Amino acid sequence: MKLLDVEIAENKMIANGIYLLSFESDYLANTFKPGNFVNILVEKDSIYPLLRRPFSISFVKENKVFIGYKVVGKGTQILSQKKKGDSINVLGPLGNSFLIDKFNGKVAVVGGGVGIFPLLSLCHELKKAGNKIDVFLGFRSRSDLFFVEEFKELSDNLFISTDDGSIGYKGNTVEVFKTKIEEGNYKVAFSCGPKPMLRFLKSLNLPFKCYVSLEEKMACGIGACLCCSIKGKDGNMLHVCSDGPVFDIMEVEI
Ligand code: FES
Repeated sequence: MKLLDVEIAENKMIANGIYLLSFESDYLANTFKPGNFVNILVEKDSIYPLLRRPFSISFVKENKVFIGYKVVGKGTQILSQKKKGDSINVLGPLGNSFLIDKFNGKVAVVGGGVGIFPLLSLCHELKKAGNKIDVFLGFRSRSDLFFVEEFKELSDNLFISTDDGSIGYKGNTVEVFKTKIEEGNYKVAFSCGPKPMLRFLKSLNLPFKCYVSLEEKMACGIGACLCCSIKGKDGNMLHVCSDGPVFDIMEVEI
């Protein structure tokens, strides 16, 4: 983990209020593993917003690091206005990573909203390891779609769903996944998305392991404050930033 001043290479809107930001960093590109995140100080020379914001690394290409985000508050709004050449301060890579292996059967990847971002590099590595992958992506509406072509290339089957039914299946992506569990005969699942989606996924009591990347409010990003604490299944306290963000879905309260 390092504290880095980096220059933004690109920062563009790719869907409704959703941005993809990139910067060059040999260090992060070489040390990053799918699931890792960075903590970004969006305004280096101002006291506001004071706190860093956590962002999962979506993927790296050569020495370029790509981070996707949605504008949800002041910090991300300021970040969305940054231009090529502007400087941000990045702490990372942080957190644990997804388990990459050659699984003895098909893998399911289930993502919702901005939770889809960290799943792209995961699929890339899973495919590189020789796995067959079914991908289930959920969006609010057609105008919120992003990375569809990229996931199409990496997956054996891609299932799109939208809340309003404007494209793909109408409804929750976990509903679609649920209908494919039997024929998919999956060996493992990976997921990231909003909490209600993950709670629904957990309620399925899947007959195989399911690993989820959790999103929580964070401050330090290194296990030093209590900002991101959650409960483990035995009531023990866990930090999403340092014990996670990737957990076995049955080991945590969501
Ligand atoms: Fe401080 Fe996790 S953000 S302990």
